[in-house]
Amino acid sequence: MAWNPDTYNKFKSERFAPFYDLMTLIDIKPDLKVIDLGCGTGELTRKLADQLPNCQVLGIDSSSEMLSQAAAFSNDQVTFEHRSIEEQVKLDRKYDLVFSNAAIQWSDRHKELLPEIIGMLLPGGQLAIQIPDQTGNALNQILDELVQEKIYKHALNNWRRVSPVLDIDEYAQILFENGSKDMSIYKKIYPLIVSNKEELYNWISGTALIPYLDRLDGEIKENFIQEFKTRIYNRLTKIPVLYPFKRILMEAKF
Ligand SMILES: C[S@@+](CC[C@H](N)C(=O)[O-])C[C@H]1O[C@@H](n2cnc3c(N)ncnc32)[C@H](O)[C@@H]1O
Repeated sequence: MAWNPDTYNKFKSERFAPFYDLMTLIDIKPDLKVIDLGCGTGELTRKLADQLPNCQVLGIDSSSEMLSQAAAFSNDQVTFEHRSIEEQVKLDRKYDLVFSNAAIQWSDRHKELLPEIIGMLLPGGQLAIQIPDQTGNALNQILDELVQEKIYKHALNNWRRVSPVLDIDEYAQILFENGSKDMSIYKKIYPLIVSNKEELYNWISGTALIPYLDRLDGEIKENFIQEFKTRIYNRLTKIPVLYPFKRILMEAKF
């Protein structure tokens, strides 16, 4: 998928806010061995490492575009490897802290994947994950409706990204069934306040829109972008608008 770090970074402070919330859920201890799944540019991996005394943090990501910026954030404690989450869980490597900010929504079959991710923890380890609640977010819903319409369905060869994100009670059940009795899971609204309509399009174009734009070309791609923008703008009755972006945050000890 063609990630673009510049587009992604346009909303840095809004995208960093949940990371800081996730950080508050972590038990800070010295000498932790940590993995950051879907680390992106590595900027937040480095911020994570800077809060953990004498830790070793590995950031992995499947996008070479995003990782191309990671060298600037590596140091003696922080390294990066180009690998998918699905490949990483198959390796026999264990960590004290498995961390992931805004990445696991890109991986499918969470009911199977979460136990595999938990399997990466050492005894006494901690999981800390933040996931955008795609099914609860209006822009994702507008996008999902649009791609199911005949003209775009045809252009996309019937391809559609179905959100793998579960309800928070389902995540709680998975954590419990896999050995955690000490967990904290909640859904939080991160208000995105935009003062021009184009900004909401720009927000989603840095993430959920990417796989669709990758699959479209030429005139149909232009039509698709225009129609998506029109539908977003039609939902907005006044400016500035508050877009209540929902995210799931979870922490569990094992
Ligand atoms: C929204 S960005 C978040 C990046 C970073 N964690 C942050 O908070 O800034 C999502 C990242 O997940 C990565 N990603 C998506 N699917 C992945 C997968 N299956 N395995 C590894 N990384 C993946 C993308 O390449 C992208 O860098």
